[in-house]
Amino acid sequence: MTDQSKADKSASSDRILIFDTTLRDGEQCPGATMTFEEKLEVADYLDAMGVDIIEAGFPIASDGDFEAVRAVAERVKNATVAGLARAGKKDIARAGEAVRQAVKPRIHTFVSTSPVHMKYKLQKEPEEVLDLVTASVTLARNLVDDVEWSAEDATRTEHDYLCRCVEAAIKAGATTINIPDTVGYTVPEEYFALISMLRERVPNADQVIFSTHCHNDLGLAVANSLAGVKAGARQIECTINGIGERAGNAALEEVVMAMKTRADTLPYRTGVDTTKLARASRLVSTVTNFPVQYNKAIVGRNAFAHESGIHQDGMLKHNQTYEIMTPESVGVGKTSLVMGKHSGRAAFRSKLKEMGYDLGDNAFQDAFQRFKELADRKKHVYDEDLESLVDEGIAHAHESMKVVSLTVIAGTIGPQSATLTLDIDGTHQTVQSAGNGPVDATFNAIKSLVDHQARLQLYQVHAVTQGTDAQAEVSVRLEEDGRVVTGRAADPDTLVASARAYLSALNKLQVKRQKTAQAQQAI
Ligand code: KIV
Ligand code: ZN
Repeated sequence: MTDQSKADKSASSDRILIFDTTLRDGEQCPGATMTFEEKLEVADYLDAMGVDIIEAGFPIASDGDFEAVRAVAERVKNATVAGLARAGKKDIARAGEAVRQAVKPRIHTFVSTSPVHMKYKLQKEPEEVLDLVTASVTLARNLVDDVEWSAEDATRTEHDYLCRCVEAAIKAGATTINIPDTVGYTVPEEYFALISMLRERVPNADQVIFSTHCHNDLGLAVANSLAGVKAGARQIECTINGIGERAGNAALEEVVMAMKTRADTLPYRTGVDTTKLARASRLVSTVTNFPVQYNKAIVGRNAFAHESGIHQDGMLKHNQTYEIMTPESVGVGKTSLVMGKHSGRAAFRSKLKEMGYDLGDNAFQDAFQRFKELADRKKHVYDEDLESLVDEGIAHAHESMKVVSLTVIAGTIGPQSATLTLDIDGTHQTVQSAGNGPVDATFNAIKSLVDHQARLQLYQVHAVTQGTDAQAEVSVRLEEDGRVVTGRAADPDTLVASARAYLSALNKLQVKRQKTAQAQQAI
């Protein structure tokens, strides 16, 4: 099939391609850094979930980013794997090298087209930028057949000029044209008109797939993406939980479920297995340590909770009274009492399978051991406990500093004190510290073992399930020289969870410091 007929076919099709950029635009936001292993874990899950394109990172940014994109490209079985590149030769070559081994490789190259970006950011004349469009897409096409071109800040770009840029990109061989609302400025009617205008006015527009990429600064990212689809775009760029720069990107779970639930007015299909959405949300939240707001659409913990008496009464009579989609359709099961300390290995494995986890041997052994420890301390182990246990194993697996033991003296007679032993790069170190309360004492102990200047920005505790023996899930956000990281941990003992969360944030900070150092060398 020629490129022309492929594009014609797709424009009239109801199939919407889902381009996930959690690992690139999502990972760019403050505090959402993922380690190499976490990126692979997320990529595997996105592939299994049926995402069409996985944007795995920005290979020129650092050696770590390059290696992660390359490893994702090597292992992903079904999805196209994209690497981002600015319009320069080095960027494009590096992206091409990183995605080379993918079953379906894509280079995604971009340049700013709005007057304010061209003048102040690029300090280039519009004609120079137009030449860059042709040159960059041509370079990328010499490396791969599948090239996406983006007009950064497209929604604040002058229309005639945008048409010329899009036409040039298509002539040079771009197969997808992305129209980003980089600053989250547009509104649905305007974005609909923009995509329609481009499809009508650009002479070779029918040769490519148009794509949406909407940021959420005005809370309109999902509405704008769907308006783009109505205007003929057939690819949506989005992230799990809507994470991304500033207010984030369009949330994958929201665009997918909007089209599934309102097929009457949005008659489009995606390839996403929606029963995997809740787990995807939980996984991304755990590895980025980025909490999901309770009332977040589709995947928030309250998204299917009915609290008021009137609503509960209606639900008991018929679930369609207050439910437009079922919890099961997005993979939210009913809270169930699952396992106890007598449950064996086989039952544990089959329970994890039922919950959508497919762990390798080492990860399984580790999860089983931690499950046994938890079941010894906690009478009832719920699905939520198991989720947090497994996801945390993934998040903490490669940390170089770990909590070995913690004893805290608390109560009405101060000062409270903590005795803490940490494993730092394989060596055990112990300290005793006092503090203004048990949490302060615990954090002081960590500070005296791990030298750092980070400032505590947030300390938050919530219960994973109900009951006084529920696990406490603690989030700790730290800031150092503009770098923001969040650590999270769960344990039936709030202070142990607090120590682990603080240490997890420090581990992330260490990774981030290394990444920044590498990026400064690379760029
Ligand atoms: O928001 C944006 O403009 C981007 C581009 C690099 C596609 O993320
Ligand atoms: Zn973006």
